[in-house]
Amino acid sequence: MEKLPTGRDKPWLAPLAGYSDLPFRLLCREYGAAVCETEMISAKGLVYAGRATRDLLATDVLDQPLVAQLFGAEPEFLRKAVDLLLKAGFIWFDLNMGCSVRKVMRQGAGAALLADHDKAIAAAMALLSAAGRGRVGVKLRLGVQGEQALTPALCELALRLEDMGAGWLTLHPRTARQGFGGQADWDALAGLSVRLSLPLLASGDLLKAEDGLRCLDYTGASGVMYARGAMRDPTIFSAHRALCRNMCPQQPDADILYAVILRHVALARAFSPDMRALRKMRSVIPLYARSLSGVRVLRDAVCRSATWRELEDVLAAFFLTGKS
Ligand SMILES: Cc1cc2nc3c(=O)[nH]c(=O)nc-3n(C[C@H](O)[C@H](O)[C@H](O)COP(=O)(O)O)c2cc1C
Repeated sequence: MEKLPTGRDKPWLAPLAGYSDLPFRLLCREYGAAVCETEMISAKGLVYAGRATRDLLATDVLDQPLVAQLFGAEPEFLRKAVDLLLKAGFIWFDLNMGCSVRKVMRQGAGAALLADHDKAIAAAMALLSAAGRGRVGVKLRLGVQGEQALTPALCELALRLEDMGAGWLTLHPRTARQGFGGQADWDALAGLSVRLSLPLLASGDLLKAEDGLRCLDYTGASGVMYARGAMRDPTIFSAHRALCRNMCPQQPDADILYAVILRHVALARAFSPDMRALRKMRSVIPLYARSLSGVRVLRDAVCRSATWRELEDVLAAFFLTGKS
């Protein structure tokens, strides 16, 4: 059976609502992301074909292998959503059991599924029956609330998902109540990884490539998924691959960050050239430049840019002449 690339030297791009769109995924692939996930997509939104949801499905031949992440609680909608995505050419799916945003959890979706394992299993079964064994992953947190530790109940859920034919699991080892607070519990990742036969991907506090390698060594996980680390610096993937070859990764200095930004702008202009893409770039650029002095001035100037031309002029002024 065809499998997605997983392994120590095959870092994935995590699903990132508002970020992991087509231009960003292509950018991360150019730097070495082995697999990318879409932003989370509402199964119900997809079935009712809202424009915003349809936009999330934009992809390209270069955008492979691609995992479509779905959220939802109702098996009927999840099954229909997978059917629609299969017709559109998608073959890999991920079920979100980790989102802690109130709007999602109120629907019983995301991490709320962890409060009722029968519902969680029914939701996963809906994806698996439509997509087939091995083609579905599940992204978990430790639970909704309570202690930040691997519980026997979560292990049991993970083993049931494995028996049902899940292709891989991902664990972000915090509870939903924690959001992004505290530290990711890598011991929980280690505890789950020894119990599973299928690939376990680690997520959580992987802000630099060095964190990814440390996490792999500490937890024995099959692979890592970069999230905030990739949002801040997409060269994290090439750095990760360099470290796997015992090479010293290049530090992302201003020249490298300028090249990253220009490439992201070019991809955004090519694949979603309207004003929404420009607005998105205005929020992304300050994240890339956050470590550079004068970033506040850059942020203000970027926010005032009303056209791509203006944006490029602002960037050139900041990176090439030191003023914006
Ligand atoms: C802006 C943002 C959007 C996210 N969107 C999603 C999402 O759509 N689906 C999902 O499963 N996780 C989502 N996550 C969680 C990440 O995939 C990841 O599990 C989490 O950030 C922990 O990894 P990190 O500490 O290395 O960033 C999001 C996180 C952030 C910061």
